[in-house]
Amino acid sequence: MSIPRIPPRDVTLPLLADPYRFVSKESARLGSDAFQTRLLCRGTTCLKGEKGAALFYDAERFRREGAMPSPIRKTLLGEGGVQGLDGEAHRHRKAIFMGLTQADRVRALGARVEAEWIEAAERWLRAGATIRLYDELATMLTRAVCAWSETPLPEADVQLRAGHLRALFDAAGARNPRHFWSRHARRRVDRWLKGVIEDVREGRHRPAENTATFALAHARDPGGTPLAAEVAAVELANILRPTVATAVYVVFLAHALHTQPEAARAATQSLAARDAFIEEIRRFYPFFPSLVATTRRDFVWEGLSFPEGRQVILDLYGTNHDANAWPDPEIFRPARFANRPPGAFDFVPQGGGDHLTGHRCPGEGIVHEILMRSFDVLTTRLRYEVPKQDLRLNLRRLPALPRSGFFLRPLDLARSG
Ligand code: HEM
Repeated sequence: MSIPRIPPRDVTLPLLADPYRFVSKESARLGSDAFQTRLLCRGTTCLKGEKGAALFYDAERFRREGAMPSPIRKTLLGEGGVQGLDGEAHRHRKAIFMGLTQADRVRALGARVEAEWIEAAERWLRAGATIRLYDELATMLTRAVCAWSETPLPEADVQLRAGHLRALFDAAGARNPRHFWSRHARRRVDRWLKGVIEDVREGRHRPAENTATFALAHARDPGGTPLAAEVAAVELANILRPTVATAVYVVFLAHALHTQPEAARAATQSLAARDAFIEEIRRFYPFFPSLVATTRRDFVWEGLSFPEGRQVILDLYGTNHDANAWPDPEIFRPARFANRPPGAFDFVPQGGGDHLTGHRCPGEGIVHEILMRSFDVLTTRLRYEVPKQDLRLNLRRLPALPRSGFFLRPLDLARSG
């Protein structure tokens, strides 16, 4: 059997115009969770759903080296980082990230994020200001993650660095000149963090041994050679940038608390209900749309043939919204997680499979911790109003956000939880 094929036009523009839904719509039209097309002028197979995800994470059949398109490497990811490694080189580098995201370190970051919330809320109340949450969070999370990782950040640089870290994920997928702002930001972030790595190596900065700055400055490749300072800097950015990007999920959390009042009330009743609410935010809301890999060799899967060197896309958003795994996928329903723990390949907001041996995101614990602390602040400590605004999600934007960025007017702050 051959894979259904979209007529041989290049789908780059339609995919960029509807990045979260294009693959699902074409799958539905063709009646198949796998189809062939052309993307960025290359023959491409698109996959969605649990089976497709399990195939995509088969490292015997797929490699990541060179798979991500250059515009994404020059912005979001940087060059030489863990995302583009395979085999032993990948496992060796990934172990560093897993070590940095152990439970006690994650809790320490959570405590810093909570302290930033309280400090910021006091400031907003003193100013009597209505704030745009997305903007505020970028600064709060930059401060928190830099302090936690012991990346020096003078107060005078906070806005500059927060703006650059945010541009890496917020402007990378733009189809207009904002994309070039993201490229500029990548150069600035790489230069800044290379300087930090060199300062550690040359003894001018002495971070604690359990910090990301220390671990990455002293990281080596499997042969024992220290990482090039440029690569260590890209890996440090691989901690800072996505932690700041958790701002997107916190905005989704505020959006869900406001637009799903019944589910929000239920979520305050128990820790299990709160966790289910957080999981449903990660399943329901559009954040990371899809991933790219390349086939290592010819193979046949489920009767479908894949030639060597084929570009393959896994639709993450479509897999999280696959009705076969998630009944009524367009309904926000945290209770679905009560009797149904997510599997390794049907729930892939941050990738699937195994953390250590595969490319699954090592930051899931950090995201959960930041969402949990933010949930507690927004439901038990900060009283606020949500002014009238445009809360529709802009699914044409990467990452999608409520069009307003979520304005809120703080009213009062309880001192302790
Ligand atoms: C903000 C919310 C986040 C989202 C939506 C997200 C999503 C993802 C996705 C989809 C992948 C790719 C998985 C794959 O290639 O198979 C990934 C990988 C990665 N994430 Fe996250 N992530 C988030 C937060 C974090 C955090 C807080 C960290 C900090 C440790 C982090 C660090 C990484 C790293 C280093 C990789 C590369 C892993 C590898 O290639 O082995 N992410 N993330």
